[in-house]
Amino acid sequence: MSGDIHERLEELRDRGLFRRLRCVSGPQGPRVLLDGRPVLLLCSNNYLGLADHPRVREAAAEAAMRYGAGSGASRLISGNMTIHRRLEEALAEFKGSEACLLFGSGYLANVGVVSSLAQEGDVVFSDALNHASIVDGCRLSRAETFIYDHCDVGHLEWGLQQAEGRGALIVTDGVFSMDGDKAPLREIVELAHRYDARVMVDEAHGTGCVGPGGRGLVAELELEDDVDVVVGTLGKALGSYGAYVLCGETMANYLVNSARTLIFSTALSPPSVAAALAALELLCEQPRRVEKLQRNGRVLREALSEAGVVVEERDTPIVPLIVGEAQTAVAASDRALERGIFAPAIRPPTVPPGTSRLRLAVMASHTKSELREAAAVLAATVPAAARRAPEPPVSGSDDPARRARVFDGLADAA
Ligand SMILES: Cc1ncc(COP(=O)(O)O)c(C=O)c1O
Repeated sequence: MSGDIHERLEELRDRGLFRRLRCVSGPQGPRVLLDGRPVLLLCSNNYLGLADHPRVREAAAEAAMRYGAGSGASRLISGNMTIHRRLEEALAEFKGSEACLLFGSGYLANVGVVSSLAQEGDVVFSDALNHASIVDGCRLSRAETFIYDHCDVGHLEWGLQQAEGRGALIVTDGVFSMDGDKAPLREIVELAHRYDARVMVDEAHGTGCVGPGGRGLVAELELEDDVDVVVGTLGKALGSYGAYVLCGETMANYLVNSARTLIFSTALSPPSVAAALAALELLCEQPRRVEKLQRNGRVLREALSEAGVVVEERDTPIVPLIVGEAQTAVAASDRALERGIFAPAIRPPTVPPGTSRLRLAVMASHTKSELREAAAVLAATVPAAARRAPEPPVSGSDDPARRARVFDGLADAA
């Protein structure tokens, strides 16, 4: 290893940003062995507890026997199999979309779609707290990127005006992955109509979690006909691995011909596809799983509030405990882990500097008593910062400092 890399690692350590891989034994249940120690898992995106459901496991095993373990090639070569088509049809029906296109992962879907829909000379409008894969899609597109302040439609509109007709795409997470809040989609869609831009929504944390029967935020707001592209993942509430894009037929054809991450990457493996199909069937048959997830979110929030921790009222399974500096978040996470609660510190560049946090994620499979136990431990281990109401964001799109950031390249908002 070169000295340079040693230095970079040391610097990360000094700043509290060093990461290491930990190992979970067994499936993503509420209680797992973490590096050999029993802990309560409070950070998995297996929201509906489907990743280890017997029907989902069986479907994956059967698909491996019937179709093999791998798809062997990209979708445009020989990797597109009947089982891919079946899942695409089922997802399109579930979400009421004309077409559906599977991708290898949510990361690949976002990078592929954003870079297909925006090109050199265009402007992409991206929320400041969008997922890293959207940020990277903006980079690959070579379009100019306008990063509007988080959920600030005033700032977005100001940017659209500056773009003078070059605005090609507005892209946003539906449910924000690290904050659990929802994008103001109605207002965004209205602006998109007015300024003639497309809208793309990432429902990675919406599908299975919010909306009627877990159909996501776009369905909750009845905006299916107003959003051009919805991205969803199979690796979170749907308990498998992979991703999908919902859109019109013409758009799907365009993506097949332009999305580099679909064209140049091996198709999803049959067991992953079959597992997602089985999970989707379970979600449709048992919508109460979504209700249980939402109830569990309320249980955790109430228990934390009663214990003196400030949490926002929300109906998503993501509960951020923002503590500030990276080192403080790491120390809080270590203390919680010593007492059996696994909620790792989330630090820059995943979240902006000064907002490091424990990002709690509830699952439908948690019991009430597990969530209350976790709240009691966290109330005793997170620092006082998480017990104060957050400062309101600075707003006002006439602020020159904010103007200066416009079109000056891409901030690391991941
Ligand atoms: C909002 C959001 N989009 C996309 C992704 C990427 O999805 P995947 O893990 O399937 O690559 C994630 C997952 O981490 C996410 O949180």
